[in-house]
Amino acid sequence: MSGEGFMAIPNLPEEYDQLDQWKTLMFLYNAALQKVQTRVNILSDEFHHINHYNPIEHVKARIKTPESIVKKLKRLGFEATIDNMYQELHDIAGIRIICSFTSDIYYLADAISRQNDIKVEMVKDYIAKPKPNGYRSYHMVIVMPIYLSSGQVEMRVEIQIRTIAMDFWASLEHKIHYKFEGAAPEHIREDLKECADMAASLDRRMLALNESLQKAGEEKNG
Ligand code: GTP
Ligand code: MG
Repeated sequence: MSGEGFMAIPNLPEEYDQLDQWKTLMFLYNAALQKVQTRVNILSDEFHHINHYNPIEHVKARIKTPESIVKKLKRLGFEATIDNMYQELHDIAGIRIICSFTSDIYYLADAISRQNDIKVEMVKDYIAKPKPNGYRSYHMVIVMPIYLSSGQVEMRVEIQIRTIAMDFWASLEHKIHYKFEGAAPEHIREDLKECADMAASLDRRMLALNESLQKAGEEKNG
């Protein structure tokens, strides 16, 4: 059974030994992304049903490019093999959820974590503890089953959840980081840090305003 073609994905049906490993891996990560997206959409619809506003502005899903998969494995000191991709990388499949308010982030993160077949492998709360450069976001790595025609396999998905303001900041910071190859001048880094703190302050005030709005709605409806 385990000749040259064997992949170290537990429970992968034997017939997969005959198939292209890269295509198998991409098929599985793609399936995992679809599954997470559907669940997030259902949670969002349910939230709207209960609270009458959308907790999610938009959702972006992506599969890491082959170039950046190879680059990351190299950086971590691993050979670029299919097995290492599956075992060592947690962000081949990634979904980014952009929320309206900070409270929505924790609501979604909790709701996802509570799903029975989802295992939360890692949490990094860069909102409670921002990075020194000012980066804020809530990161989770989850593992979920994908049901195949015979058997099931476990796939990892990285979920990043942030507000519109956090996302606005992160996309500019990302461009600046690349432009200066990670070595932006001091005054730019200081400005960025200041903007991150302003964005966080905006998030707090918008959240407070939304809470007032929700409260006024409740009072009006008795
Ligand atoms: P990577 O190897 O880059 O995936 O980082 P990591 O494994 O240490 O994980 P971490 O949770 O810190 O970051 C994962 C992802 O979050 C990154 O790939 C980015 O998409 C995003 N991210 C983390 N830090 C920053 C940051 O300082 N600026 C921006 N713009 N994005 C960040
Ligand atoms: Mg990454």
